[in-house]
Amino acid sequence: MSEIVRLSISSIRNIKTADLEPSPSANLLWGKNGSGKTSVLESIHLLSTGRSFRSSKVDPLISHDENEAVIFAKLADGHQIGLSKSRRQQHKLKLQGENQKKWENVARELPVQVLDSSAFLLLEGGPKPRRKFLDWGVFHVEPAFLSNWRKSRKCIANRNLLLRQKHIDYAQLAAWDMELSQAGIAVDLARSSYFDQFLPLFNEVYQALNGSLAGKLTLSYERGWDKGKELAAVLSENQQIDAKYGATQNGPHRADISVNIGKNKAVEILSRGQQKILVSAMKIAQGDLLSRALNRHCIYLVDDLPAELDNENRAAVFNQLLRLGGQLFITCVELDAMEKCLINAPQMTKFHVEHGTIKA
Ligand SMILES: Nc1ncnc2c1ncn2[C@@H]1O[C@H](COP(=O)(O)OP(=O)(O)OP(=O)(O)O)[C@@H](O)[C@H]1O
Ligand SMILES: [Mg+2]
Repeated sequence: MSEIVRLSISSIRNIKTADLEPSPSANLLWGKNGSGKTSVLESIHLLSTGRSFRSSKVDPLISHDENEAVIFAKLADGHQIGLSKSRRQQHKLKLQGENQKKWENVARELPVQVLDSSAFLLLEGGPKPRRKFLDWGVFHVEPAFLSNWRKSRKCIANRNLLLRQKHIDYAQLAAWDMELSQAGIAVDLARSSYFDQFLPLFNEVYQALNGSLAGKLTLSYERGWDKGKELAAVLSENQQIDAKYGATQNGPHRADISVNIGKNKAVEILSRGQQKILVSAMKIAQGDLLSRALNRHCIYLVDDLPAELDNENRAAVFNQLLRLGGQLFITCVELDAMEKCLINAPQMTKFHVEHGTIKA
């Protein structure tokens, strides 16, 4: 179970201390602008991943007049996760009282997805956020993925170092090509098998949310090198081009999910609201797949989702989120409007947030 039964926060942004006993279903954090609602979601995200979803650094989250932030969560299965972070110092992360060097065990215990006003960024620009999106899912459902992914990253970094030398050692380059090819193929297999499971679930959710566009939209996985060729051959054929750029041009680090409507990129056609619905469907489908594969729910952090969505679409997105049956943490300014979207929630706990103080 990934369900938080107790959450304690201290010295995160304007929250001095907070102790919450969340509902297993919908949790509504309501209050005025700047009261501390998003900071609660950030705390959960930080505990789960080591990062905030709205700033690249962690130190700005620590309350100005404090030196150390602490977040603690107890899960429904009794597991406990604790994180402390002091300014300019390494964090301390514990799972069941044991120090954790890396975040992977905690991330598996506490999978979280964010739906916020920057959701549309997934569709805009380069492939990196879409690759990250895909890898989040593969990481959770395919245990061997992480080691192959790390191996491929190491190979690419070493290969790029060689490519930047004045006199390239082609024998060494060939050795890295071989290792990269093995790890890259394993990464691609895991990604493509995940994507095959993800796609029908996505189509189902998207159909329910936006029937009229569902038939026109196509999502496809692109592995990062020529479809008809072996990675080893592509790497060897492109050594000169790679040397010219000083970087590996083909491989799993170039994978993407293309999102098209007809021949156009979806982002060039869809309105902001329609993009938000599409990204919500992608993230909901990932949570759906996670619970089917692992019998564990993903926690959704929903920040300011209503912006740019009309009443009908808001209700549809929340109904899909509720259908998953996991825990939701939702921020809102207008309580009445949000309660209407959540009339189908089996259980709801409301938390009023005021100047960093949180009351159920
Ligand atoms: N390091 C910090 N120390 C103290 N206060 C901070 C720190 N960082 C941000 N704040 C303040 O904390 C408050 C909480 O911000 P938060 O984003 O959680 O508000 P919110 O309730 O989500 O508001 P909105 O409705 O506008 O999204 C803000 O008033 C902000 O100025
Ligand atoms: Mg906010």
